[in-house]
Amino acid sequence: MTRVLAISGSLRRDSHNTNLLRAAAEAAGPDVEFLLYDGLKEIPPYDEDDDVHPRPASVSRLGSAIDAADAILFSTPEYNSSIPGQLKNALDWISRPVATNALRNKPVAVVGASTGAFGAVWAQAELRKVLAALGARVLDVELPVAQAHTRFDETGLTDEEIRGALADAIEALAAEVEARQDERTHAVA
Ligand SMILES: Cc1cc2nc3c(=O)[nH]c(=O)nc-3n(C[C@H](O)[C@H](O)[C@H](O)COP(=O)(O)O)c2cc1C
Repeated sequence: MTRVLAISGSLRRDSHNTNLLRAAAEAAGPDVEFLLYDGLKEIPPYDEDDDVHPRPASVSRLGSAIDAADAILFSTPEYNSSIPGQLKNALDWISRPVATNALRNKPVAVVGASTGAFGAVWAQAELRKVLAALGARVLDVELPVAQAHTRFDETGLTDEEIRGALADAIEALAAEVEARQDERTHAVA
């Protein structure tokens, strides 16, 4: 069983990005346990003076959720050609301490949705850059969902091509998790 933590960069209730992650949960096979993270909004602004033990509970909770997951699937909106500030803020907390941060060596993939014509491609690229800086294993996955407001109805995602791409992204994450487990087994043997 692969445990995938899904983190949406959007805080709003009817977020297309959160809905995209819900669709990913449905598209995932039976061997994937999917958890949608719901605590991003509670994370305080990063302040190095506050980055002491114990860390704020909301930050510890996110760190523990990442620790407990085998892989992370992010879906990010694009805010002014980049990622939303609160997502970056959360990653700044997670990035410390640098050598042992929770995302180091963690398989991660990034998808994204925007109401514009380009499907948050720049935000996805920015997020992959930040995740790489943290030492995550960033998969070569890109899923730009353009005109996101036209892709969902009350039943969820209506686009089969996107559903297939989501399934592929999760499969790629599961394969990376497996490859990493094999590497560890061989290192021990
Ligand atoms: C502050 C702000 C900045 C935005 N900047 C961009 C942008 O640079 N490119 C883009 O394609 N969409 C931009 N949008 C539109 C978002 O793609 C749209 O609001 C999208 O639905 C947000 O994702 P969500 O539905 O998951 O909340 C922006 C929206 C906001 C609120």
